[in-house]
Amino acid sequence: MQRQNSLLYRSAKSLLWLFSKSCKKKISVHKETPMTAAVKTSPSIASQLVNGILAIKPLANFAKHQARQMIIKRAENIGVHWTQEVEKLKARSWNSDFAQVQNPQVSYPEYYLKPFHAYEKSNLSWEAALEVEVAAKAVHAKIWQEAGINGDAQLRQSYHDVVKAQIPDSPKDIIDLGCSVGMSTFALQAVYPQAQITGVDLSPYFLAVAHYRTQQRQAKINWVHAAAESTGIADNSFDLGSMCLICHELPQSATRQIFTEVRRLLRPGGHLTIMDMNPQAEAYKKMPPYVFTLLKSTEPYLDDYFTLDIAQTLVEAGFNSPTITPNSPRHRTIIARVRD
Ligand SMILES: C[S@@+](CC[C@H](N)C(=O)[O-])C[C@H]1O[C@@H](n2cnc3c(N)ncnc32)[C@H](O)[C@@H]1O
Repeated sequence: MQRQNSLLYRSAKSLLWLFSKSCKKKISVHKETPMTAAVKTSPSIASQLVNGILAIKPLANFAKHQARQMIIKRAENIGVHWTQEVEKLKARSWNSDFAQVQNPQVSYPEYYLKPFHAYEKSNLSWEAALEVEVAAKAVHAKIWQEAGINGDAQLRQSYHDVVKAQIPDSPKDIIDLGCSVGMSTFALQAVYPQAQITGVDLSPYFLAVAHYRTQQRQAKINWVHAAAESTGIADNSFDLGSMCLICHELPQSATRQIFTEVRRLLRPGGHLTIMDMNPQAEAYKKMPPYVFTLLKSTEPYLDDYFTLDIAQTLVEAGFNSPTITPNSPRHRTIIARVRD
């Protein structure tokens, strides 16, 4: 059995290697030029090719394994002690945090149950929850040359710089949709210390970590275990809704529903701000095929995100036409005001 597995593993490796060699040019994920260009609403040929490769289970498993190893190695290289940090968190008892955030009535949409980020049990596991922080630091370490361990903080700062420049009034009530373990929520709190902040996420495991971090920081944040499509929160409750790095994890239908829900939650004059991958960034156009394949193996809805006309979707959900501003070599900030 072990021999068979190792044979499969080696075949998968050779096939992926051959695939990446056969793409002589760098993969072009999206050919349009910045911001003014029409959105390409079907996946590129390269992306379809990669989908074909990833439909073969041993290849998909191999790609996920490689993606994970690449990130762990990068973490250790930049001084994020992945194994040590995760072991420290594993040693805690999480029962109380979990009990305080979990809403047993929540039902999970089917798309959320798919394996994500190389975790078989998706975001609904301790394995995923306890690795979120180290993984974010590693993934964002190379956005700017020399950023290293500060890349994640720099990315969030670049988002908030755009938001503050375009929305001069400080929001009083903020909702962070897809808040995960709270990294985006605490970053918002640092920018708007006077605001009341609510974080919503579908993973009670992630929210348990967020709850623990809130206690450590002696902060006050209202964590809500719910689907962002249907939060159960009253109409007109917030001045600002933030969706940070969540849209690329959603099928288009879920993004549409969440925009409609945020529109309901926002007060007149309120804003929805979104920060996520920029499909039109040169960095994605130039991404080596092998790395693109590894990325796609861990992100099941990347095609949905890259081919969504997000500006049009926001208008359809009741917002004014948004501004779209690149805030890193790979990310964009989208700001939409509630339509009067
Ligand atoms: C990549 S993480 C981003 C986390 C965080 N905003 C940040 O910037 O670090 C995406 C998060 O969205 C959550 N999520 C995905 N779909 C969701 C949904 N429909 N409702 C609520 N949360 C969702 C996931 O559980 C995950 O925590």
